[in-house]
Amino acid sequence: MVEQTVVLIKPDGIQRNLVGEIISRFERKGFKIRALKLMRWSKKTAEQFYSVHKGKPFFKPLIAFMTSGPVVAMVLEAENAIDIVRKLIGELDPKKGIPGTIRGDYALDIRCNIVHGSDSPASANREMKVLFKPQELIKYD
Ligand code: CMP
Repeated sequence: MVEQTVVLIKPDGIQRNLVGEIISRFERKGFKIRALKLMRWSKKTAEQFYSVHKGKPFFKPLIAFMTSGPVVAMVLEAENAIDIVRKLIGELDPKKGIPGTIRGDYALDIRCNIVHGSDSPASANREMKVLFKPQELIKYD
């Protein structure tokens, strides 16, 4: 099934000049970029985006991190996009990071982990609505 998924390049990815490298990995894999923008998140946007983690011990520092600098947000489209993006991103736990994945290659920290990818169709749909207006998703062949 053709799916859309939300990918973020987090403030650490931007600070480390990895934006081009990360976008090009997804482009070369074959994803269609349906939306792409550089954003500065408010606390409200960060709390809305990560609302499922509210109350967890890492929530407050996560919000502080995600509002500490700009974020690149994109919507990528492909057959089975959600699973494939998460495979390319790699594991959350840096000790399990497999070389060749984005986190496996670039992240040593469980919080400052360079990228985010939606974990299900419902999350992708919700996250898209938090970050993009419908007209910001561009349809093309
Ligand atoms: P992400 O894939 O964006 O989803 C939730 C984010 O919360 C995660 O990446 C990390 O940035 C952060 N996170 C998840 N679990 C932990 C944890 N145990 N400690 C610190 N940060 C975490």
